Amino acid sequence: MNVRPPLAAPAPAVGTSRIHESARAQVAGAATYIDDIPEARGTLHAAPILSPVAHGRLRAVDTTAALAAPGVRGVVLAADIPGDPVLATFVHDEPIFAKDSVQHVGQVIGLVVADSAMAARRAARLVKPDIEPLPALLDARAAHAAQSYVLPPVVVRRGEPDTALAASGHVLEGQLEVGGQEHFYLEGQIAYALPLEQGQWRILSSTQHPGEVQHWVAHALGLANHAVTVECRRMGGGFGGKETQAGQMAVWAALAARKFRCPVKLRLDRDDDFMVTGKRHPFSYDWQVGFNDQGLITALKLTMLAHCGFSADLSGPVADRAIFHTDNAYFLSDVEIASYRCKTNTQSHTAFRGFGGPQGVIVIEAILGDIARHLGLDPLDVRRRNLYGVEDRNVTHYQMKVEDNILDPLITRLEADCGYRHRREALGAWNARSPVIKRGLAITPVKFGISFTATLFNQAGALVHVYTDGSVQVNHGGTEMGQGLNTKVAAIVADELGVPFERVLSTASDTSKVPNASATAASSGTDLNGRAAQYAARNVRDNLASFVCGLDGCGAGAIRFVGGQVISPKTVRSFDAVVKEAYANRIQLWSDGFYRTPKIHYDKATLTGRPFYYFSYGAACSEVVIDTLTGESRVLKVDILHDVGHSINPAIDVGQIEGGFVQGMGWLTTEQLVWNDKGYLSTHAPSTYKIPATGDIPEHFKVALWPEANREDNVGGSKAVGEPPFMLAISVYEALRNAIAAGRSGEAPAKPVVLTAPATAENVLRALGRLS
Ligand code: MTE
Ligand code: HPA
Ligand code: MOS
Repeated sequence: MNVRPPLAAPAPAVGTSRIHESARAQVAGAATYIDDIPEARGTLHAAPILSPVAHGRLRAVDTTAALAAPGVRGVVLAADIPGDPVLATFVHDEPIFAKDSVQHVGQVIGLVVADSAMAARRAARLVKPDIEPLPALLDARAAHAAQSYVLPPVVVRRGEPDTALAASGHVLEGQLEVGGQEHFYLEGQIAYALPLEQGQWRILSSTQHPGEVQHWVAHALGLANHAVTVECRRMGGGFGGKETQAGQMAVWAALAARKFRCPVKLRLDRDDDFMVTGKRHPFSYDWQVGFNDQGLITALKLTMLAHCGFSADLSGPVADRAIFHTDNAYFLSDVEIASYRCKTNTQSHTAFRGFGGPQGVIVIEAILGDIARHLGLDPLDVRRRNLYGVEDRNVTHYQMKVEDNILDPLITRLEADCGYRHRREALGAWNARSPVIKRGLAITPVKFGISFTATLFNQAGALVHVYTDGSVQVNHGGTEMGQGLNTKVAAIVADELGVPFERVLSTASDTSKVPNASATAASSGTDLNGRAAQYAARNVRDNLASFVCGLDGCGAGAIRFVGGQVISPKTVRSFDAVVKEAYANRIQLWSDGFYRTPKIHYDKATLTGRPFYYFSYGAACSEVVIDTLTGESRVLKVDILHDVGHSINPAIDVGQIEGGFVQGMGWLTTEQLVWNDKGYLSTHAPSTYKIPATGDIPEHFKVALWPEANREDNVGGSKAVGEPPFMLAISVYEALRNAIAAGRSGEAPAKPVVLTAPATAENVLRALGRLS
């Protein structure tokens, strides 16, 4: 063993930009998704039979023509379910296959199973369900009027909103409609069910929540959870759309596999994916706000209608998070928020990046924009005046103290760096000279609560294996959907063991390795799984440290692990050599780790307490241009300053901020879901549903990271990044309203700009008063 000091301590993996663990394979087309996995012999393919009617009595299903079609092996209907015919969701309100009634266009009545995916799809179109139509509720306002809900309403109140409203110097009221959003993951929903020996199952699923897929499949098949193993190496995007709703594919594929006693794969065609799966919840709002001459909010009364679709799915926690984020960054002294979870005859809307947060934030930002216009004040001044304080005005409407507020200095820096003040002036002058084309500018902040709102989900496990050659595998309960979780977890483990990043390999999520894992969601993948993996690695390191200090006669605390070396006061050994020798001495070289988030608690009935471990902050300045004759718009310039704490991987975090922002832009500008009067989603393909393209990315798009570490003890001093930047795109919406107001100048006082989201050309023209 060489006794020499290390040359130079190599950079730790945490805090350094590292290439995504799958990037090279993805670019080369060598990263496997479920549809790329070589099929087992005898694999059949399933395709769903969809309801063509939004609501009705299902009298019969005629499968004669489908069964006679080429390649068809048979059909799977509700009668073929050996276990519970209702999915094992929390609310237990969603049939696996529609039976007796249909509740939305696209509801799955059954499956056609065939030799090829195309044969199954063609034959599924030949199935004739016999449906007696019933009246359908197609939007949240209609459902609210009919008191049709998937869950009971929730009201959160603080202070005396009615009295405060009556005493307010100014009162404004309004309505707002905000549309939903299709996830448009590049890899559509897919599952592959493989029956194994003795009633056991292996399910390959593109899911954010393998543990729930395991549970649902076992429940539908009437088996114990231990008989089902679910695996997911990666998803081609999830964005919340695979938090629960990947489970249906797996259950359907497993039911088909059980009936035909062979492996079955089910991959939804893109159009079917649009028709079957839920989206971001569209929201409708009615609000009344009181404020003083400076634009300080003195009272707020808000009714929020969440358009949930035909079943509860995650609508309860989504609508709760909307309530939790109605303050965004602002202190609301006297406030009442009534939240209704409306049951409609559409797809069941589900998690989508931000999880109700965006639907909470947009309404308060819209209200602040209207207040500023009404008073003729700069909207940024009005926003800053309403921010949470540091010493006082720092308790949210759900009674959580905001202890880590950095928005004042953060906005100050962004405002200076992006030249907000002089650009506002220049823009006013520019608009005065431009009769048709108008520009708009806005800064909006975000404060996003990190933790699952359901406290129990804030736990995670991991396994770290050190092999005898010193190479390392880490497995954790999280899933990789492109967000870089595996890359971050590998860096955390590498640093804990003091080995080079390349020595650590992250492996596929697998319910037989880490059980009972939560969904990878709520942006907390790294917080939870990173910490669990760190603890697992720490256990192995402690074993090795005790072993080395036994050899060198020192305290275990004196051993350092750095740069692939193990350094005691006496000796420097390579990590690999220590591992070999430890193995020979029967030292355990692998371990588990478990983490649960500290400090959080809250009362589900009143929504009060501390639901979040900490907040992530950010602010964005967006400049847009509109054509007041056509309603077309473009985003010209975006400057973002965002707080990720001490970044674990700056390149990945900047990618998340850019991606989240652009996805938010899509939600608020071009991505329009249109259900016709029969409840049929007309925009069910990329031909009519427009996500942002590369050409929509603003030419000037600058992202900077706030330098301070997380003030709470979180892994590596970092903060979660997956969802919060999505809401920065609300600056685009506010900038558009600013441009629209410029296009309507002449009114005094300025009228509220009622802009239905998304701000399509038609909706911009409506807001301009040029289209009814
Ligand atoms: N980034 C990519 N590339 N693909 C995704 O599907 N999902 C987002 C976000 N970023 C997503 C993504 C959502 S909705 C969440 S909750 C987080 O990633 C989940 O991962 P994390 O908790 O590891 O950040
Ligand atoms: N975010 C995402 N998924 C969830 C949450 C949340 O807050 N709560 C329950 N599932
Ligand atoms: Mo993300 S909406 O929490 O999957």
